[in-house]
Amino acid sequence: MRKAFIKTFGCQMNEADSELIASHFAQAGIETAESERDADVFVLNTCTVRQHAEDKALSLIGRLKRWKEEKKGRKIFVVGCAVERIGEKNMTKKFPFLDAVIGAKSIGKLGEEIKKTCGKTEKSEKKEHKNIVFEKRPFSQYLTIMRGCSMNCAYCVVPSVRGKAEHRPLEEIIEEARRKVASGARELVLLGQTVNSYCWTENGRKTDFTDLLKILSEIDKLKRIRFMSPHPLFFNDEFFKEFEKNKKIASHIHLPAQSGSDRILKIMKRGYTRKRYLDTLAKIKKTRQDSAVSTDFIVGFPDETKKDFEETLKLAQEGEFSLAFCFKYSARHCKESENIIPEKEKEERLNLLLETVKQASKRIFNSRIGKIEDVLLETENYGRSSANFKVRIDKHVAPGEMIKVGIEGVSKNILLGKVLK
Ligand code: 5AD
Ligand code: SF4
Repeated sequence: MRKAFIKTFGCQMNEADSELIASHFAQAGIETAESERDADVFVLNTCTVRQHAEDKALSLIGRLKRWKEEKKGRKIFVVGCAVERIGEKNMTKKFPFLDAVIGAKSIGKLGEEIKKTCGKTEKSEKKEHKNIVFEKRPFSQYLTIMRGCSMNCAYCVVPSVRGKAEHRPLEEIIEEARRKVASGARELVLLGQTVNSYCWTENGRKTDFTDLLKILSEIDKLKRIRFMSPHPLFFNDEFFKEFEKNKKIASHIHLPAQSGSDRILKIMKRGYTRKRYLDTLAKIKKTRQDSAVSTDFIVGFPDETKKDFEETLKLAQEGEFSLAFCFKYSARHCKESENIIPEKEKEERLNLLLETVKQASKRIFNSRIGKIEDVLLETENYGRSSANFKVRIDKHVAPGEMIKVGIEGVSKNILLGKVLK
């Protein structure tokens, strides 16, 4: 049987999309390969959120020419966000040896392209793709609830490559959730670019993000729900009420700050001030004492002064983030401000921020010692706590179990603990 190797760059949305891509290939009788060596088809799912991600994809494509020549009949598919930004035609022109080139907005034509490029295969096509389960992360599975983004953050290419926000029908989400739980998932990770803006109206009945959390929590064997990535603007009192009482909602929230300076937040068009961000952060921590918050920061956005940057540094300290992803600003649009921050300055700011974030995160990790964490085991002796800390335990327990662990130490970025029950 022919096999496809799927390489994914970028975010969790892309990883979830790659699972869908795998199901399309499976439907055509082409199963997933563990490595490119065993594969007849190479699928590259690209990212373009920063120039670096795009460059990585382009350089890999350059090298794939040899991979294709090594065995007769090999095919290369390149799909996703970088293709959308660069343009399908431009990509085909630049890399004429590619067999299929599909941008993020046209991923719907993948099935047809597979048929066209890979032809008929021995396996029947009757198998419904929704019945195919991908066991890569059996206990924690992704569930995409919306696609695209209708915000307009000045630095971000997502709305232009993935299009405006489209929310999936409620019934479809519930059905997929049930199916994933029946296939072994004990945790679902709801995905969307502004996941907490979810809203679905049918027959005059409105279901918002909090309603969706309530509905999904009723699935019996489901033990935990995470979501990625919320936008700070879409949290409301209803959410916090549910967050307080519904312990199936994980006590970790990724709350992207991007900057600590009101001036920069305004130019970035984030829609909140530093104060409003801090208020939301405080509410999360107050509502669930065991909670942890992670964030994203961008340094060196055009016009960012040293003073603006210091505000970001201060937020990184005050915010007590368990984890913060820090990025140098990468220009994604043609129109650029005159006040571009030199690369060297960006680098220096990034290093300062990384050091601050590391120290703060160390404090947060150490503060968990002596606490009890609910851990969902991914292997026999390793899992993740509700607050999304990696935890290693002192004995072997069946993967998929939710256990109470007393934390006794920290090793790098892993909590070490003793099984309590
Ligand atoms: N440059 C640098 N970082 C960016 N991000 C998004 N766009 C850019 C950009 N142009 C970061 C943001 C976002 C994360 C997924 O990537 O911090 O939250
Ligand atoms: Fe990009 Fe997120 Fe802003 Fe949407 S909300 S434009 S995905 S950073």
